[in-house]
Amino acid sequence: MKHKIKVLLTKKQIESRVRFLAKKISEDFSGKEISFLFISNGAIIFTADIIRRITGKVRLDSIRASSYIGTNSSGKVKITSPPQISLEGANVIIVDDIIDTGRTISRVITYVRKKKPATIRTCALLDKPSRRVVPFIADYVGFTIDDVFVVGYGLDYNELYRNLPYVGYIEQ
Ligand code: IMP
Ligand code: MG
Repeated sequence: MKHKIKVLLTKKQIESRVRFLAKKISEDFSGKEISFLFISNGAIIFTADIIRRITGKVRLDSIRASSYIGTNSSGKVKITSPPQISLEGANVIIVDDIIDTGRTISRVITYVRKKKPATIRTCALLDKPSRRVVPFIADYVGFTIDDVFVVGYGLDYNELYRNLPYVGYIEQ
């Protein structure tokens, strides 16, 4: 089946916002080392673009988190692949592609907190606040969007479309 994808955020819009966020993060951390922890797989492209525009020292690792199989309202999120680098005393920025219900990022924050980092900040390309189940506000947000299912720039539909250079939605 071939889907028709409509552009929601162009490559240009994303590039410009990424540049803004990276500048803001670089300024906020004023040369301090930052440990970026991206939630795999979705945040891989956003993270790759952000870190290349950070002016200070950067460490990088990933974490995988998956919702328990079953109804999506069961809501349990499990860490299925932990990071390998030490986070103790680190300035951690957790990066996700999108904050939807807020369950994934909240679970990752709980995990990271136990590793005793110096600071924890969060960064997401997209935010869908209308879908929130767990109250959560990210420190750095690319774009706030309505409740539509989006793909591209890392985001998938059944593991497809992560490679699109823009963010789009599937036209019904
Ligand atoms: P949350 O735990 O409900 O906040 O969901 C976060 C995860 O759900 C994200 O990391 C995405 O992998 C996935 N997700 C939520 N909304 C979308 C969407 O519109 N398109 C693609 N993936 C999504
Ligand atoms: Mg995903």
